[in-house]
Amino acid sequence: MCGIVGYVGKNKNAMKVLMDGLQCLEYRGYDSAGIAILQNETIEIIKSKGKVSSLSHKLKAKGIVESELGIAHTRWATHGIPNEINSHPHRQGSVTLVHNGIIENYTQLKADLVLQGYSFTSDTDSEVACGVIDSLYKQYRDKHKTLQQANAMFRGSFAFAIVFDDDIKTLYAMRRNSPLIVAFKEDEIYVASDVPAILKYTNKYTLLEQDEYAVLTKHEVEIYSLQGTRREYEIKTAAMEVVDIQKEGFDHFMLKEIHEEPKVVSETMRFYLGDGISDLMSRLPDLSIYKELYMIGCGSAMYACMVAKSLIESKARIKVELEVASEFRYKNPILTKETLVIVVSQSGETADTLASLQLAKENNVDTLAIVNVVGSSIAREAKYVCYTLAGPEIAVATTKAYCTQVALLSLIGLSFSVIYQKVSKKEIEEIINEIKNIENTLSNVVNDGQYEVAAKIISKFSNVFFIGRGIDYALCMEASLKLKEISYIHSEAYPAGELKHGTISLVEKGTPVIAIITQQNILEKMISNMKEVKARGASIIVIASEDLEVDLDIFDYRITIPKSNSYLQAITAIVPLQLLSYQVAMLKGCDIDQPRNLAKSVTVE
Ligand code: M6R
Repeated sequence: MCGIVGYVGKNKNAMKVLMDGLQCLEYRGYDSAGIAILQNETIEIIKSKGKVSSLSHKLKAKGIVESELGIAHTRWATHGIPNEINSHPHRQGSVTLVHNGIIENYTQLKADLVLQGYSFTSDTDSEVACGVIDSLYKQYRDKHKTLQQANAMFRGSFAFAIVFDDDIKTLYAMRRNSPLIVAFKEDEIYVASDVPAILKYTNKYTLLEQDEYAVLTKHEVEIYSLQGTRREYEIKTAAMEVVDIQKEGFDHFMLKEIHEEPKVVSETMRFYLGDGISDLMSRLPDLSIYKELYMIGCGSAMYACMVAKSLIESKARIKVELEVASEFRYKNPILTKETLVIVVSQSGETADTLASLQLAKENNVDTLAIVNVVGSSIAREAKYVCYTLAGPEIAVATTKAYCTQVALLSLIGLSFSVIYQKVSKKEIEEIINEIKNIENTLSNVVNDGQYEVAAKIISKFSNVFFIGRGIDYALCMEASLKLKEISYIHSEAYPAGELKHGTISLVEKGTPVIAIITQQNILEKMISNMKEVKARGASIIVIASEDLEVDLDIFDYRITIPKSNSYLQAITAIVPLQLLSYQVAMLKGCDIDQPRNLAKSVTVE
């Protein structure tokens, strides 16, 4: 949700660093982009509607030269349409800034500033924040006091990179509920929304904590608490490398990331499983004290929870409440000492998931975060954290991170089954053997070419339905989200028995209905449901495990997936559905890695 990068350094590398950084951060928002750069001792602002490439063209045409300081931003619009005026950087008086987040009380702050004589050109809360900082600086003439007071006045979330006209050799940064890192190279300092933005230049970084601000010159980094106390910081080394954030010959990051699934799922499962169940138990928190789970996330992360709920309730026989984070955060949940709240998030920065975690903590219950990004806000706030080992995920549509979430949650499910003695030694052995081979199994699914015919059928329609029962319905939810997200085809996921209670009226000649079946015990019911829609003209695409027999006259096209143990079946079943969406989006010529209106990391409500 908006990307920020800033640079100050002796090598006058600002232009290159800022543009490289924006390219890497574009997945966080791509409505518009802009930079503020030091040119002839003044700060020059250049902005452009659209992607970073259009800003690049503009910069070339303007002949902007290298510089020792600059800040830049790529935007996902929250306040005001995506146009040049609303894009960042913003400037008021002697202050220029870029902002990620939402200043919730900006209307009131704006009214106060108008009374002081300020006027605004954009519709953004960010320009108001800029005005507040300028006004406070006029009053205090002290940058520390100004930032501390501004922080106290802002409600909501923010990550800022700021330049003051009377101190053009220094960058200021401040954050709350939006991530910000400071990175280091000799006599060059960077500030960015996340590590990939500066990885080409350095892998040494530190994180700004909640409500901290930093003063950055080419020689020195000072980090202060809100009270103005300077603190020491630890310099971390990023585990990722530049190749991890490149397409490596694939047309899209999404396709590259699907192809990484065999490796990252296997690595995640083997990391936790080690030499067997006792290693697994020792690498997870002590789950034996919990009698009930709440599982919370947004979008695909929530659908991973939905798969886990189905698995854990049916196998381990413990109760799981599933919650959409944006709903949970405003509830008055019934939580007891025996409840474990599990929050799931790839980015670890999703605002609603973070707020849900905070609510759980306020209720004094234990929290476990399943997170992909090391050191992210959610990872740092939870009592326990278990990382998925998916590596950096760049495509806006999650694939490999979702798969590793399901994989790790399945292992948590298995642990509960062991604790509650609901799984036999023999089955545990079978599961472990399958996990040892999972890289192979998934590689075969990823490299299968079965999806193209089905994709052609789907791409001709503007309405699609997914149907399934139990855990397959949870998979339908994720498959449907993936399809609509990247191909812009309207799709709905339904429990297979529910369609006839109203929605079946939308089925007409040719409407694609995709049926997912991985369980023998519901096969007959699914066949009846497929017949119901077939009789009304639907084209049926069935995605079924290899052990299930479905008569040829029932479907128009079948995709067969390997049969796995029920603890692992969801992982293999989702891969064809991701590839199917990808193929459909390709046929429709969509912007697969950066679908319209979206951003990767949703750090606002
Ligand atoms: O970073 P998170 O896992 O918390 O993100 C949650 C959702 O925003 C995310 O899964 C979203 O639904 C994806 N774009 C779906 O592909």
